[in-house]
Parts: sequence; C-alpha cells; structure tokens
Amino acid sequence: LRIASFDLAIIGVAIDPQSTTPKHRQLYARLREAVLADRLHAGDALPSTRALALQVGVSRNTVLAAYEQLLAEGYLVGRAGSGTFVAPDAVRERFRRTTTHADVSSGGAELAPMAKMLDDLRIRLPYPLAPPRAFQIAAAPIDLFPVATWARLTARRLRNTRHELLSEREPLGYRPLREAIAAQLRNTRAVVCGADQIAVVSGAHTALFICSMLLIGPDDAVWMEEPGYSAARGALRLHTREVVPVPVDAEGLDVREGLALAPAPRLIYVTPSHQFPLGSTMTLRRRLDLLHVAEDAKAWIIEDDYDSELRYDGRPIAALQGLDRSGRVIYVGTFNKIAFQGLRIAYVVLPPSLVEPFTAARYFVDEYPPAINQAVLADFLVEGHLARYIRNARVACAERQDCLLMRLKRKLGHLVRVEASAAGGFLVAGLPENFDDVALSVALGGAGVDVLPLSPFFAGRPTRRGLLLGYAAVELAAVRDGVDTIARVAADMHR
Ligand SMILES: Cc1ncc(COP(=O)(O)O)c(C=O)c1O
Repeated sequence: LRIASFDLAIIGVAIDPQSTTPKHRQLYARLREAVLADRLHAGDALPSTRALALQVGVSRNTVLAAYEQLLAEGYLVGRAGSGTFVAPDAVRERFRRTTTHADVSSGGAELAPMAKMLDDLRIRLPYPLAPPRAFQIAAAPIDLFPVATWARLTARRLRNTRHELLSEREPLGYRPLREAIAAQLRNTRAVVCGADQIAVVSGAHTALFICSMLLIGPDDAVWMEEPGYSAARGALRLHTREVVPVPVDAEGLDVREGLALAPAPRLIYVTPSHQFPLGSTMTLRRRLDLLHVAEDAKAWIIEDDYDSELRYDGRPIAALQGLDRSGRVIYVGTFNKIAFQGLRIAYVVLPPSLVEPFTAARYFVDEYPPAINQAVLADFLVEGHLARYIRNARVACAERQDCLLMRLKRKLGHLVRVEASAAGGFLVAGLPENFDDVALSVALGGAGVDVLPLSPFFAGRPTRRGLLLGYAAVELAAVRDGVDTIARVAADMHR
C-alpha cells in the first residue's frame, strides 16, 4: 500500500479563493484530474480530511464535500474505519472512458450558466458498447434480438428506397412510423392519440429536455420522483432551480407529500408503469389523485414509460395518459430499451396544444433520427416482428428474473431484501441502511460485475441503500456467476 504524498503538486494548482466556483468543487475537480491523469494510483490512501484541509488551507467540511462527491462517483472508495482510497484500476479505466464533463475551466473563455450547470450535474455518458456484462440495466434480452430480420428489412428498404425516403424531412418524423406507433399505443397501452400528436426523437432524454424548455421557467416548481431517474432530474434542473424531490412509496409518487412540499407545481415527472429505480407500479387511486392535482394547479405531467413492454403478470397497465381528460399528460416512450440502445429512436405523444411549439423547438435542438432507420422500424412494427420479439423477451426475462431471485436468496439472503418485479428488466436488492452501496458497486465493477448503487438516485439524503441488478440481457449462467461474485465481494467488504 502506498500512501500518497499529498503536496500541492499532486493536487495541481491551489484553490482559487476569488473564483466563483465553490471551493469544494475546485478541490473535487483537482483530485479528479489527479486520478484521471494517473498522478494518484489505484489503492493510494488519501490523507485524512483534517490533514488535507490544513495543507490546502480550506475547511474540513470543504474536503469532506469533495471526498463525498468522489466517493459517490466511484473515483474513491471508503473502507469503514480505515480511510479513503483511490478506486481500483479497472473501475478507474471505465470512468475515464465514460465520464464526460464540460470542462468549464478550460481555455479561459467563459461559458454560459447552463454549461456550468451541466458540469455540476456530472453527466455520465452510457457504457461503451461492450458485450453486456452482468448486471447492466437493459429492458430486453439483446442476445435474442432478431438481428437477421432487422438486416433483411434494412436491405429491402435500401434496395427499394424511393426519392421520398432519401429526401424525407417530416418535421415530426417519418409519417408511417408515427402511424404505427400511434396504433400500437392505442392497442397495448390505452393511450389516446393520433399520429399527428407523435414526434419521433432520438432518445427519451431529448423529449424531456425539449419539454422542460417549453414548459418551465427558472423559478417554476417541478415535482420529481425521489428517488428518481437522474437524467430526468438533470433535464429539469437545467431549466429550473425548483426541482422538488417528492417521495415514492409502494403505490408510486406520494401525491399528498408533494402537495405539502410544493402545492402549485408547473410540471410533474413520473414513471407510473414501473417506477425507476424502486420498481413499484402507481396505483389507480394515486393516478387519479395526481391528475386531479395537475388539473387544479394547471400543471403538466410527463409520463416516462421507458420499459412497460415487459410485464410478467399478464395484466398490462393502462397508461396515465389514457385517463387524462384535460390534455396535460405528455407520454414519452422509447425503442432504445426494448429493441437496442444503438437504435436511437424514441417518441413523445404530445397534447394537441404542444404540437406546434414542440415542432418549432426541435428544429433547433435536434431534428429526428435517420429516415431509413425509422422506415425499417416501421416495417418491424407493422409486420409484427416487434410483437413477436416482445413475446419471446417476456419468457426469457421472466426466467432470468426467477433465476436471479433464487440465486440472490440462496447466496445473499442474509444480506439483501429482494422481491419479484412485475415488470421491466431489473430488480432492486435492498441493503441494510448503513451499508455503503456505492463502495460495493465500485468494488464489484473491479470484480467484473456492473451494478448501479441505489443511493445516488436520491437528490436528498438517501433513505434506502441497495443495488440495481439488470437481468434482461444476462444469460442464466452469467446471472448465477454474477450473484456468486456479489456474495464474495460483499463478504470481503464486511470482514
Ligand atoms: C427511467 C428512464 N427513462 C428514460 C430512459 C432513456 O431512454 P433513451 O435511451 O430513449 O434516452 C431510461 C434509460 O435508461 C430510463 O431508465
């Protein structure tokens, strides 16, 4: 074990007391750079907060805040009672490749407040396209995706492409695809819509960003699920200071709590079919309460329906949008999860009053995915290939979930709480309240298993700890090996 000799040369430039960037952010950035530039190595021990505070000339709380951030992001790992260390090499490599930050300090040129906000949000790009490892989150068994059919449909489209497709520029996306989506949503999700209300976008994030831009101003209150999907929180946070974390329980978003915290929201973000990350389904009572609140407050609701295609209990849940009588629910869905991440085709069902503003805004932000891919997807839907794939995916994913549950109970029953999930492609394995789920996930990354810790999905103080385990894209043998690795690493951590 090497104790890092912590002089200011390692941390880089000293902290600038004149800067508008808070000192803990400066220190965080310096330490992160040192890790990424290999000036600090895997396993190096960091000085105590007290020692570093003295050396750098800041308060201990400043150092503590910087350490906590680096721990949460996986650059550092903490071992109870024995200090803080630079995370293992493999993990550091992954973060190096996948973490992007708008480098606000570069070049001396000033960036606008939104760019600074992006830096604060610490947007992390998705994993590189490696073969999926246990337990990356996916909403479909990508190993079973009918690639040959997709290739055949693509070749056919390219062979027969007419002038219209090559010069296609429908402002809301390829019309036949929008018609196919509208038909599917009406049939399977009880969404009330026509093709004219559907905009094809490249990802759910794009839809969330454009909707936030159109619907909220910098002081508008927005209800956000707590815990909730960090990327959605980010899109909202870029447009308002007032993102209010509203607790989620077994019935979904706690509407009464929301009213107590912020009685007049302008926008409400929910994942009612399968709450991300806790996995609950919003009850009908809550759905009606929520619509009622939105009507009273003249608020918009974004319904993020990211993985509802996979339901195992045979009872498809109707979308919240279908219950809405006053045109305030915006329904967002995606093919990137149920088909494949690299596809980049998602969609938004807009209330009629939003179609025009959305069309104008998307012209500047992001037009739409390539027309050829949209046409191939339209064929894939209309010819029934997607429905067939979803039927196969359900069977495979149910089996994978069972296997994961059984193995977790057998190998980790003493430590984790798990319950079967009626939908989606991941399970939450609850950990004891004092368990450091971030440190466990970092250690697991080093051991070849990807899990997301639950606690960072809280905007405020985490009230639960756990691991999110994606099983949809993980074959049975890898599910078993993955759980065995978790059991081994968790036991080591507790020794
Ligand atoms: C809750 C939730 N919404 C939306 C998305 C993103 O979908 P897309 O890949 O279409 O941007 C995800 C992806 O992980 C998600 O978990």
